[in-house]
Amino acid sequence: MNQTFKNFQSRCLPLIDKTLFQLVETLKAPKFLKKAMLYSLKAGGKRIRPLLTLIVVASFEQKINEKIIKMASAIELVHTYSLIHDDLPAMDNDDYRRGKLTNHKVYGEGIAILAGDALLTLAFQVLTQNSSNEKLELVLVKLLAKVTGATGMVGGQVLDIQGEKKCLALDKMQKIHRLKTGSLLSYAVKAGLLITQSLNQWKNKIIPKEIEKHFLIFAESFGLAFQIRDDILDVTKTTEELGKTAGKDIAMKKSTYPLLLGLTGAKKALEQEITKANKAILSVEKMQTTFSAELLKQFIRTLKI
Ligand code: IPE
Ligand code: IPE
Ligand code: MG
Ligand code: MG
Ligand code: MG
Repeated sequence: MNQTFKNFQSRCLPLIDKTLFQLVETLKAPKFLKKAMLYSLKAGGKRIRPLLTLIVVASFEQKINEKIIKMASAIELVHTYSLIHDDLPAMDNDDYRRGKLTNHKVYGEGIAILAGDALLTLAFQVLTQNSSNEKLELVLVKLLAKVTGATGMVGGQVLDIQGEKKCLALDKMQKIHRLKTGSLLSYAVKAGLLITQSLNQWKNKIIPKEIEKHFLIFAESFGLAFQIRDDILDVTKTTEELGKTAGKDIAMKKSTYPLLLGLTGAKKALEQEITKANKAILSVEKMQTTFSAELLKQFIRTLKI
């Protein structure tokens, strides 16, 4: 496979965007609600989570079609909802996101909460809309519910709030990072594997246990690295560069990697997770002849600071 991450990204991003916008535009729902949902969807996120799913599928030499793009995009609806709620005055109280005013600053808190709720529920609708593969749909819906709710991202966000103004031990903070951020990224990786499995990649449509094991290690490390990087950028970049308020974690007295380990320690922890993620992906390449680690390796590299 000769594709580069950059090529893959520039080919897929417009398709993900088009899918997301159409999903909301075609809803028979109050215009103002749709406007608020589209405002955040169109603010230009990096679309890391759908890309992760698509790259996993493509790494197994599978073609990306419209149905796969749609399934992969569902997680971005959940992610965008989570950011709208994360920015609310009752949570991180942020005025800027993706370089624009936050949803509640433009539409008011009530509509922002409801736009988030509508994006979250739409994700489940999307997953059951068109794959013509009910078994895959059911597995993805179950998994999405698990990683999104109390046992996943929402649980992590609760621990994050409860941890404010406290100096948490490293293992407690890691748990928060894994839940609040790692959950959705792990879902994206697992969804990629499950979609690949449904395409008859393996005998009896079962993912070999060893391969699954390495992917889970990759997903864990990628997720943790992603939030460590976010914490580092929060203290090293400007608001203009980030598109969201810089220095927010210190202002909110959050426990972060830079706070607990210092900037150098946080960068080292990031490097360690990047190395672990790479190793896991290379292990898969050794086991599976129809898998190329190249795209994922390049994706992992984008986490470097
Ligand atoms: C930001 O996620 C929130 C975290 C989980 C750290 P992203 O960095 O993926 O945000 P967008 O979607 O690109 O704006
Ligand atoms: C957000 O973490 C994780 C979510 C589940 C939304 P942060 O609060 O650090 O994300 P940013 O920095 O506001 O994007
Ligand atoms: Mg937060
Ligand atoms: Mg925040
Ligand atoms: Mg942050």
